[in-house]
Amino acid sequence: MTVTLEKSVQDFISTPRQLFIGGQWVDAASGRTFATPNPATGETLAHIAEADREDVDRAVRAARAAFEEGPWSRMTASERGRIIWRIGDLIEQYGDELAQLESLDNGKPYAVARAADIPLAAELFRYMAGWATKIEGNTISLSVPYMPGSEFHAYTLREPIGVVAQIIPWNFPLLMAAWKLGPALTTGNTVILKPAEQTPLSALRLAEIMAEAGLPEGVVNVLPGYGETAGAALAAHDGVDKVAFTGSTEVGKLIVQAAAGNLKKVSLELGGKSPNVVFDDVDPALAIPGAANAIFFNHGQCCVAGSRLFVHESRFDEVVSGVADIARGIKLGSGLDPDTQMGPLVSDEQFRRVTGYLESGRAEGARTVAGGQRHGDKGYFVQPTVITDTTSDMAIVREEIFGPVVVASPFSSLDEIAAQANDTAYGLGAGIWTRDVNKAHALAKRLRAGTVWINCYNVFDAALPFGGYKQSGWGREMGHEVLEAYTEVKAVCTQLHP
Ligand code: NAI
Ligand code: MG
Repeated sequence: MTVTLEKSVQDFISTPRQLFIGGQWVDAASGRTFATPNPATGETLAHIAEADREDVDRAVRAARAAFEEGPWSRMTASERGRIIWRIGDLIEQYGDELAQLESLDNGKPYAVARAADIPLAAELFRYMAGWATKIEGNTISLSVPYMPGSEFHAYTLREPIGVVAQIIPWNFPLLMAAWKLGPALTTGNTVILKPAEQTPLSALRLAEIMAEAGLPEGVVNVLPGYGETAGAALAAHDGVDKVAFTGSTEVGKLIVQAAAGNLKKVSLELGGKSPNVVFDDVDPALAIPGAANAIFFNHGQCCVAGSRLFVHESRFDEVVSGVADIARGIKLGSGLDPDTQMGPLVSDEQFRRVTGYLESGRAEGARTVAGGQRHGDKGYFVQPTVITDTTSDMAIVREEIFGPVVVASPFSSLDEIAAQANDTAYGLGAGIWTRDVNKAHALAKRLRAGTVWINCYNVFDAALPFGGYKQSGWGREMGHEVLEAYTEVKAVCTQLHP
């Protein structure tokens, strides 16, 4: 049995999809298209116009015109907020359809997309809608030392940065679009969004939804295409004032170099190798499924995946064998099969990358206690995998695998685990499992990570800032912190001559 596709979804994927520029659906200037495959079968799902440099130029012009002259630039904050709220409502209204597109294109189970990705995206827009009317500056007392006796009235304005390029990955296609678009729009910017080439469908449907919500033309332009062409052209474009990127640390560094040409502002949400620490006092009924969820959620394709599991030596065997049992019991299959608990990886490239790490772990002498192989013989399925007997220099311990693969090792003391957990180039997430509030908060303080979850993992909320220390990124998404990443501060200083 499978989920029956809505007619609107069948129509959407059976018609070649175009680029969305200046409120119009257009072919790529080159006329080229690319295919997005169904990761459960490897077969082509839909054909998409492939944006490149010329399309980027057009989209930047459209976004510039919308920013400088369009109705968007004259709207009140309240009007802007209402449109953004409506986008959230429409995402909810079209939730079944969006979840089907997401499952088809990315491979994740429909039920997961419907329960998590879609409502989180809707709520993100609603949360951000509320900020539109609350973007404020300050009044400031001046004491200019070389102008004794003078009086001033000084204040700050928070203004949009301008034309923003947003480049997003394929692991949560709609949600990553929401994380990026919500704050950019509530602060009054205009946007060119480039979805990942693996998963362009939900962003294209979102473009229709944003138009239906009343977003004026040119405010958001959507350009599916490849990173090396469309993405690189956006990151380097002189007409772009800011680039916001989520993806690999490797490409994040390329974005920084490309941005140097016009010193556009940059924010980055990059990779991770997040530690998940289980102390000796835990309730196994909480910590074992918690540790499994930390790595296996979204097939391990989470920047924040709890991919390094550390368990106190006195509970190591118990917790690791519990996580391994869960791994062996996870049902893999098509995202549209209601019994499926884990779908395929997103692409052949990711499949080869992840299975390559499984082989390198074996070659370096690590022990696979669950999984470790491909699942089935078609599509990009990988067994949920638990690995032990690693050393801290192995590639599987140091590098982001971005698949359902966890490496587990024992620890004995808080000092030791703080050092081990921080022994990584990344600093995105971390988990702590203990009943002892002293241990929990003492370790939370010492971890160099942008998010620390205590007795939970993968808890996301539009109000909770998210981002990375070290090589996991620059800046924060969500919460009120993200507003800083999408605004310029203008200081206005008036001398009073009474
Ligand atoms: P990627 O970093 O290459 O792709 C992410 C986005 O960047 C896509 O939209 C892509 O088209 C674009 N892009 C690629 N090269 C670009 C360039 N030179 N200039 C501008 N944009 C460019 O990630 P990829 O290749 O899909 O996955 C590779 C690894 O990256 C994964 O195995 C995982 O470790 C990591 N990754 C991390 C993510 C996160 O959420 N932090 C998300 C996706 C991947
Ligand atoms: Mg890449």
